[in-house]
Amino acid sequence: MTLVVAHRGASAHAPENTLDAFRQAVEMGADAIELDVHLTRDGQLAVIHDETLERTTDLEGRVSELTMKQIQRADAGHRFAAADGSFPFRGKGLNVPTLPEVLSWLPAGTGLVIEIKAIAAAGPVVESLRGSAVRAAGAASAISFEQRAIDDVHDQDPELPTGYLLVPFESFDSGLNYAVQRGHAAVHLYEGDLGLDPAPKLSQARAFGLLVGCYVVNDPMRMTHLAAYGLWGFVTDWPDVGRQALGPRGS
Ligand code: G3P
Ligand code: CA
Repeated sequence: MTLVVAHRGASAHAPENTLDAFRQAVEMGADAIELDVHLTRDGQLAVIHDETLERTTDLEGRVSELTMKQIQRADAGHRFAAADGSFPFRGKGLNVPTLPEVLSWLPAGTGLVIEIKAIAAAGPVVESLRGSAVRAAGAASAISFEQRAIDDVHDQDPELPTGYLLVPFESFDSGLNYAVQRGHAAVHLYEGDLGLDPAPKLSQARAFGLLVGCYVVNDPMRMTHLAAYGLWGFVTDWPDVGRQALGPRGS
């Protein structure tokens, strides 16, 4: 069963990495939510993709130089544009959530994939997950393009599944080799790197007991194609499209 993982939440429908986007993802039947974390100046985990606030909010500044309180003054719905050019989430009180806020909200039965953007966030991510329901249910994982981040997570909590994100066109063999050597559970590839026939890479990873995920798949035909090969899961901005392509949850 291939998992539909909502990329930054249902980010085609609501501002990315906000509770609104996560709620919609759950309503649309996503199996799991993917989100990004950075560390603030006061050591908190901010759920935001970029190092800075400006692309997604009405404020500017580096996350690592601001306190969480300062960051939460930003309107995280400010930049999201609907298809008709309107800004339906502006001024609606959406903010940049903390990871603990997401963990306490996350409904039972929905998985969580935490992408660690800042290496310094690795330890705090492990601490936040300890005692969380999603980790206890075995439905949480931590992934990163930064090897040090997932190495740190794995060293601090070997039971928490970790995955290595390969950048587009990165060598699959060396990425897989690194992940195997360091005890990571999965590799996550750029979708185009799986090619028309994903079978060779999937069987190579399987031979070492690793799962393969990929980012970002928004085309329903590609979703069903990859699912037919037994991909672990894909992130998508359109979890509703993914659910429709793959059928009801658990099927
Ligand atoms: O799941 C991996 C994917 O989220 C990586 O890309 O830039 O959206 O964080 P990005
Ligand atoms: Ca991400």
